[in-house]
This record gives sequence, structure tokens and C-alpha cells, in this order.
Amino acid sequence: MTETDFIPSAYSKTLETGKVTWESPSNIALVKYWGKKENQIPANPSISFTLNNCKTITELSYRTKESDTDFSFEVYLDGEKKDDFKPKIETFLKRIHVYLPFLKNYHFKIETSNTFPHSSGIASSASGMSALALCFMSMEKQLKPKMTTNYFNQKASFLARLGSGSACRSLEGDIIVWGQTDAISGSSDLYGTKYPYQVHENFKDYQDTILLVDKGEKQVSSTVGHNLMHAHPYAENRFKQAHENLEKLKPILESGDLNKFIALMESEALTLHAMMMTSMPYFILMKPNTLEIINKIWSFRERTGLHIGFTLDAGANVHVLYPKKEANVILDFIKNELVAYCQNEQYICDQIGFGANQL
Ligand code: PMV
Repeated sequence: MTETDFIPSAYSKTLETGKVTWESPSNIALVKYWGKKENQIPANPSISFTLNNCKTITELSYRTKESDTDFSFEVYLDGEKKDDFKPKIETFLKRIHVYLPFLKNYHFKIETSNTFPHSSGIASSASGMSALALCFMSMEKQLKPKMTTNYFNQKASFLARLGSGSACRSLEGDIIVWGQTDAISGSSDLYGTKYPYQVHENFKDYQDTILLVDKGEKQVSSTVGHNLMHAHPYAENRFKQAHENLEKLKPILESGDLNKFIALMESEALTLHAMMMTSMPYFILMKPNTLEIINKIWSFRERTGLHIGFTLDAGANVHVLYPKKEANVILDFIKNELVAYCQNEQYICDQIGFGANQL
């Protein structure tokens, strides 16, 4: 598939007014996407676990309007009008208009809510952009009823990517790859694809407890961070390493080797933050409590031999990952020793999930 394959031929049907609703989850990358080319093309491939509980629910109401010169929409979060969300959505609409030429013919009411606290510091862009992309695709599906499920999913992921890169990995589960790499057959820069190889039982119901270390606004946005990879002294090696790590992950996912899995995942998390610290200008998104938690995890693992590991996204929060069969003891440890480092003792219990649903 190329970009132009997602430009539709003329629609045979019309649509007046209606409403569609989707819920879509967040995801957590194991091999991280950091750095992009023009048009939201990733500089390196990434792979993620789709989450189950951290979701955005978006209801899109549409009605035809007279003029088709501009986009027209209003946005609500938890029933409250959110004009500050509009610029990001306007940018998204501009980027996807060529692929969904009907967009200027409608007035939209976008009503959205998250299952996680919105000031939690958890990025809602992956779940939010994928839910919105799916709503628009449901409209297009009504305009083109013969559309196949495969095309629907690919195009929804393709559009979500244009909203926020990592959003293209949220639509399906349970393990998704984004970014062309020889390591994974079928992988594409344009959309997320399901991980196509065998996965060991150990990973089937993997747990992710998200420790909310800092709920404040990030000092440096992902967009700025990605851009700083352009003139970065270690960029080329980092991009090469991501391809290698995807190759290394295959036998790990197949054999269920949890020690190797943890080593690769933690190395990826720290490499992501090392890229931030070695950018120019440099920046640090981890907080003192992020490091406290990491050290506690390491000593608990050493002491117990249990398979607890962490990863980080572009922020201070810590995702604690572990297999379900060790969940009882590990969750006790989290509650007794780690939650104290969270802001207002807040954490979210999540696990690997299977993607978005139409409601
Ligand atoms: O989707 P963005 O542009 O917010 O970038 C997210 C990048 C990381 O979360 C740090 C890594 C990833 O692959 O999700």
C-alpha cells in the first residue's frame, strides 16, 4: 500500500446526519518510536502492547452544512466544551482531508471522555486520535458500504498515525508493529500491523501497572523531542538499534524468555530517555521518584527472582510490566513499596488488550 491507495474514488452514496461512537485504548511501546521524517513517517520501527483499561470513548455527531470551504467542529471533554483541543484537531483534519474529502461537508460535534484521569500525565493522544480516526472511518464505510474490514482497519490506523504517530498502534491488539523493518514481515511505515509470529503463553495476559509519578504538563512535548532527533549525534545508531531489537525480540516472544524480555524492554526505555538527555537542547523527563521506583524494582527483582520490569514513555510515569502468574506478589510489592512515590499515590492497573470497539 502507498499513501495514494487511501485516497478514495468518488462516493456513490450520501449521508445527511448521524452519530458514531468508538472506544479505543492506549498502548505501551516495548521498542520505542523516537524520531520522525516528514508526514509522520517514523525514523525507526516500534512494537507495542495494546492496553485494555486506559481508553478514550469518542462520540462523533455529524450533520451536513451549506458551505464546504472550512472545517466546522466543536469538542467536548466529559461534557465540557474544550476550545483548547481545537488547534490539534484542526491540524489533524487538515492532514487527513485529502484521504477523507467529505470532511468539509459536515459540522461535527466531538464528545470524548477517558477512562483514566485526564490530568494523570498519561498521554491520551494515542487513544484519542485512534478513536476519532475510527469514527471518521465509520462515516466513510457508510459512504462506501463495500469497504473490506482489512481496508477499514489499515486506513483507520493510517489516519490515526497522522494525528499522533503512536496512535496507529492502538486500533488492534494485542501486539502491534509500526515502521517498515526486515525483521517483521508486512510491517509498514504507514500504519500499524499485527505482530505476525508466534507468541508464548507468558505474554498472553501480561500486566501493566502504571505508576503516576508526575501529572504535570511535560516540559518538552513529544513533537519537539522527535524533532531533536534530526541533528542528534547518536540518531543513526539508535535507529539501527531499534531494527536490531525488533529482530532480537522475535525469539524472546516465541520462547517466553522473561529475563531477556525485561532486559530488552528496560534497555529500550533508558535508551529513549538517553536520547532526550543527549539532544541539543538536552532535557530530562524523569523525576527523582522515577529513579527511586526503578531502583526499587531492580532490588526487588534481585531479591525475589520474580519477573518484574519497567518501561517509560515520554514522561516521568513508570509502567511496571509482569506476567499474570506472578501478579499477586508483585502487586503487593507495588502497593507496599512503590505507590508511595506516586503523586497522590495514584496508579492504574492495566493489562494487554485487543484494540478498539465500536459502541
Ligand atoms: O505518538 P507520539 O508522537 O506522542 O510519540 C510517542 C513516543 C513514545 O511514546 C515515547 C514512544 C512510543 O513508541 O510510543
